[in-house]
Amino acid sequence: MNRAEEPTFVDTAHDGGSPEGPSTHAFLRACRREPTSFTPVWLMRQAGRYLPEYRRVRERMSFLELCRNSAAAAQVTVDTVRRLGVDAAIVFADILLPFIPMGVGLSFEKGEGPHVERPIRNAGDVDALPAVDVEESLSFVARTIALVRADLAGAVPVIGFAGAPFTVAAYAIEGGSSRNFVATKSMMYRDPQTWHRLMEYVASLTSAYLNLQIDAGADAVQLFDSWVGCLSPDDYRQFVLPYTRQVVGALGSRVPVLYFGTMTGSLLELIRETGADVIGLDWRVDLDRAWSSLGNDIAVQGNLDPIKLFGDASDIRKSVRDILARANGRPGHIFNLGHGILPGTPVDNVLALIDAVHEFGAK
Ligand code: CP3
Repeated sequence: MNRAEEPTFVDTAHDGGSPEGPSTHAFLRACRREPTSFTPVWLMRQAGRYLPEYRRVRERMSFLELCRNSAAAAQVTVDTVRRLGVDAAIVFADILLPFIPMGVGLSFEKGEGPHVERPIRNAGDVDALPAVDVEESLSFVARTIALVRADLAGAVPVIGFAGAPFTVAAYAIEGGSSRNFVATKSMMYRDPQTWHRLMEYVASLTSAYLNLQIDAGADAVQLFDSWVGCLSPDDYRQFVLPYTRQVVGALGSRVPVLYFGTMTGSLLELIRETGADVIGLDWRVDLDRAWSSLGNDIAVQGNLDPIKLFGDASDIRKSVRDILARANGRPGHIFNLGHGILPGTPVDNVLALIDAVHEFGAK
């Protein structure tokens, strides 16, 4: 679907803000390292179980039903943006949705996270993976993006996303969340050929999936490589970097690309080579030092510890000041957490955080 074909659904019950409003494109300007009048902020997992409104929606439908119901997913996305006053919307979806057309048997068990019924463990499993037509099988995500765009009417940009090849492959191999990634690394070390074939498959699916989201109107896309920090620099270079680069390259600079990982302090110089425009940082690094090691010609996103939001508001304000001081007004800083918001986070503290960024980040 191209932009001209977007549905004209506009929710007149809400004021989406003026397309030329002051907060309109600070996020996109920061992605491009252009000066902004304030530091833009959004939060990973900003729509989620910490929000009572979200929990109410989830009483009516399962997580996967919600993801597949574009109208409901768009509503959750937009309601969250209006509730929090953040400077970007991230489409409500999940990095594991491509597992549905891959046919590996994805489910989310209550309180236990994702579960893959038929994990990918060997060459035969990779051979059996189907050719996926993302336009046919994941069109509901494209529809959600188009609805969010129409509803927001330019008030804030819309971020599309996907898992980066390593993190998606790791979930497919482990069959769920993992602490040490033993099955993943075992495939890498014992059967590198199968590993490379799996990464090639995931990279090409991910490229098509993100291009579909951009076609639908995503103003930027983020690749989540949540667990890539478990790798040594050599393993990252050899087993992961070529595929992350392949995905970034396949998007052809159509929109800014953000690349997020955790525990990546020792990988930053390699991560630069992905070609992404914005690099996510977690709280285990000082933002100024990490930015220096990346170089000034790249934007950064981060990096408050999400657990800080369980502390009190004055401490949150102090941490915000500290992070902004480290960014030092340099163009190209997007404020975010160093990882997603956790269930149980007090909503008032989330609001205090966003206020503090807007207050102290005004230039
Ligand atoms: O608001 C947003 O940021 C958009 C929505 C979003 C979700 N997942 C919704 C979700 C985004 C950007 C993600 C990304 C995602 N999904 C990541 C990368 C970010 C990270 O935290 O590292 C990962 C690793 C996943 C995979 C995943 N999805 C896990 C491990 C889980 C279970 C853990 C958990 O938080 O419940 C999910 C489920 C999930 N994805 C929920 C939400 C709102 C909770 C499901 C529920 O409603 O019960």
